[in-house]
Amino acid sequence: IHRNNLIINLFISTMLLIGLITGLLHYMVIIPVQRLTKAAKAIAKGNLGKEIPVTKSKDEVGELTSAFREMQASLIKLTTDLKASSEELKKMYDFQKKLIENSIDGIVATDEKRNIVIFNERAEAIFGYSQEEVVGKMKIDELYPPGVSKKIERVLYDDNFGGRGRLANYETVIINKKGEQVPVWLSAALIHGENGKEIGTVMVFRDLTERKELEEKILQSERLATIGRGVSYIGHEIKNPLIIIGGFTQQVLYSTKDEKNRQKLQIVLEEIERLNQFLTSISDFTKFTKPQLSVSNINDIVNEVHNLIELELKDKQIKFVKSLDPHIPESLLDIKQIKQVLLNIIKNSIEAMPGGGNLTVITTLKNDHILIKIKDTGKGISAENLKKIFDPFFTTKPKGSGLGLAISKKIIEAHKGKIFFESELGKGTTCVISIPIER
Ligand SMILES: Nc1ncnc2c1ncn2[C@@H]1O[C@H](COP(=O)(O)OP(=O)(O)OP(=O)(O)O)[C@@H](O)[C@H]1O
Ligand SMILES: [Mg+2]
Repeated sequence: IHRNNLIINLFISTMLLIGLITGLLHYMVIIPVQRLTKAAKAIAKGNLGKEIPVTKSKDEVGELTSAFREMQASLIKLTTDLKASSEELKKMYDFQKKLIENSIDGIVATDEKRNIVIFNERAEAIFGYSQEEVVGKMKIDELYPPGVSKKIERVLYDDNFGGRGRLANYETVIINKKGEQVPVWLSAALIHGENGKEIGTVMVFRDLTERKELEEKILQSERLATIGRGVSYIGHEIKNPLIIIGGFTQQVLYSTKDEKNRQKLQIVLEEIERLNQFLTSISDFTKFTKPQLSVSNINDIVNEVHNLIELELKDKQIKFVKSLDPHIPESLLDIKQIKQVLLNIIKNSIEAMPGGGNLTVITTLKNDHILIKIKDTGKGISAENLKKIFDPFFTTKPKGSGLGLAISKKIIEAHKGKIFFESELGKGTTCVISIPIER
């Protein structure tokens, strides 16, 4: 019994000891390690700041914990640094992207195989393609008319156009999506990689259309001014003898009895009158005078013009329809000049309706502008001619001077207004004039 008791006691104390040790182990090792594991998992998931539980013990578990803490600290620092530099990079990238995107010039870059890799907004406007249609899908050569691409490559490698591998303000043409040629200024440079190998080309395009048009306009007005000076001199030289010729013809006509000869002389007189009018038109056009502005009502001017042409309209079986807005305020206008414009346009309409028709004149007020519409049901103007009707001397009439609309446009523009035509062949023509109201 004594021995049995001893064994039982020993067994119980052993069990207690084991329990104690296990508990101690649990408290000192397993729990901290579990906590560490949990923290490590959280850190791995991205929660870098996850607090690592404190262990006061100086054993392996304590060391493990402090090693963990150190690792966590350097991890946090590393990530923060990384974040900062990637933000910096992104900022720089965004800035460069914006710089390219918002450039007033078209920027196109290619890789070494001439595939387009950059195509900015302005390039979209110049070439008419969207970025998606071009980047990674087209080669630069497709943006030039045949042969031009080769030539550009040649000058790019030539020393004489801004240095080898560079091109500065080279005047050339591109071909846009519609297949139209557009004049451009091209600057280009080869891009070299770290080993000096060519890895692409960057090109800057500047649209020259507007400049070309402006140059053309200046040239045209210079030409016109020169012509004008010459013409007014010649006109003057012709007018005087014309008066004498006319006077003598008149005298001969009075004393001629033969009817056939009288008819011929009558024609001579008519042609002299036509020449006279032509010379007056030319001098109107070349010696254009500034509007003599006075406060006037556009409706009154329309009514005066109506009075002037009433008989002719009746004679030609043209119905005149007037719709005048009574609320249009008075404005500063040159009555004589505006009358001339309306007469020129209405005269064209009458000439376009040899078999009769309708002529409508409408005045309205729109956004501080006087709007005048003159509509006819005449033969209309072809799209091709529509582009030229304001050109001086453009006419489709055997006896026209082609100056009526050129003068009208000058007058309307001198009133800071606009004039344009819409027309459909066989249907009719509408002229729209808009003049800002000034007081
Ligand atoms: N209402 C219209 N209907 C059809 N064609 C028109 C009309 N208005 C203008 N045109 C066309 O525009 C051209 C130019 O007109 P513009 O008045 O400048 O000269 P013109 O009438 O030919 O000559 P001018 O006015 O000196 O007699 C005309 O020849 C004609 O072809
Ligand atoms: Mg005319």
